[in-house]
Amino acid sequence: QELSLKLEMLEKGGFEHFMLKEIYEQPRSVRDCMRGRIYPIEGMVRLGGIKDYAEKLKNAERIVIIACGTSWHAGLVGEYLIEEFARVSVEVEYASEFRYRNPIISEKDIVIAISQSGETADTIAAIELAKERGATIFGICNVVGSSIPRLTHAGVYTHAGPEIGVASTKAFTGQVTVLTLMALYIAQLKGTINNAKLVNLLTELDEIPALIERCFKEDKKIALIAEKFKDSPNCLFLGRGSGFPVALEGALKLKEISYIHAEGYPAAEMKHGPIALIDADMPVVFIATKNSSYEKVISNIQEVKARKGKVIAIVTEGDKIVKDMVDYVIEIPESNEAFLPLLATIPLQLLSYHIAVLRGCNVDQPRNLAKSVTVE
Ligand code: G6P
Repeated sequence: QELSLKLEMLEKGGFEHFMLKEIYEQPRSVRDCMRGRIYPIEGMVRLGGIKDYAEKLKNAERIVIIACGTSWHAGLVGEYLIEEFARVSVEVEYASEFRYRNPIISEKDIVIAISQSGETADTIAAIELAKERGATIFGICNVVGSSIPRLTHAGVYTHAGPEIGVASTKAFTGQVTVLTLMALYIAQLKGTINNAKLVNLLTELDEIPALIERCFKEDKKIALIAEKFKDSPNCLFLGRGSGFPVALEGALKLKEISYIHAEGYPAAEMKHGPIALIDADMPVVFIATKNSSYEKVISNIQEVKARKGKVIAIVTEGDKIVKDMVDYVIEIPESNEAFLPLLATIPLQLLSYHIAVLRGCNVDQPRNLAKSVTVE
């Protein structure tokens, strides 16, 4: 038994939990995901796994993304990116809903199935249905040789390496990275962004692993913030644009591992319901980085502060305006707005991790949850 304990310590690479180890692996895993796929100097993306389907991608009128859980959140980020850069309409569906509602899907459609494990039963069934109807199916998976990569026509692996913690961390950023590459690849095929812009975007994307590393500077401060909120029964996460799926993912992480009830919402929807919940005991986490929705998010923060809510804001390094308005800030480095989810997700992973540890929860194996759900 002593030996197996020692082995486990070794596997965790000196970290207290697999989840923490996997959070800290992200500069490496995101780098691995981009390796050999981006060429910043040339302004080129290469995706060997799907290149045979380039014509299909170029002419696609619609892309449907299917997934479950955290992978579904990655899909929502993908929707923003693909629509923005490649100008194709994207729909993101829960695999479990898609499979049971006679979806409108045909040979003209491209379906992207996202799954860390490649074994999720609902996602597999959704793929089979779309395949029967003639769609071209791509997979974005982490586990090499799992069922989904075998069922799909083509795909792109995330190369995040084995993920042990039940709550997905590095697999999520891997999926978002692949979706970013796919969005830019389709844009390159269609010519919806020019080469000069691709050069700029890929140069910035290449910097993301180093910027993720910089996010860890805030870890100690995040642990202190976690102390303040560890006993809250609820928590709201708000963001706009691609900050919205980040908010959803932040809320999911918190509920999965700390059992605190948490909800993610588009910040502008707050006035249609969640605002009724806000009082001095309600922590609200805002994605409030400097981007196109900055001013709008600031007014949402004011609405929460006017009702005495406690605000934790994820801000761009050096931001003073939001800092003066809120209770706590967590800084992330400045980057292109398109890559925000890859950075803003990191502090939210750490926040839920520290809260769960302080609450004495089993971080790596939360109650009632499984790493892959192979039954309906
Ligand atoms: C389970 C896991 C989640 C995961 C979801 C989808 O619920 O606990 O972390 O996001 O399944 O899994 P997949 O392997 O298809 O990404």
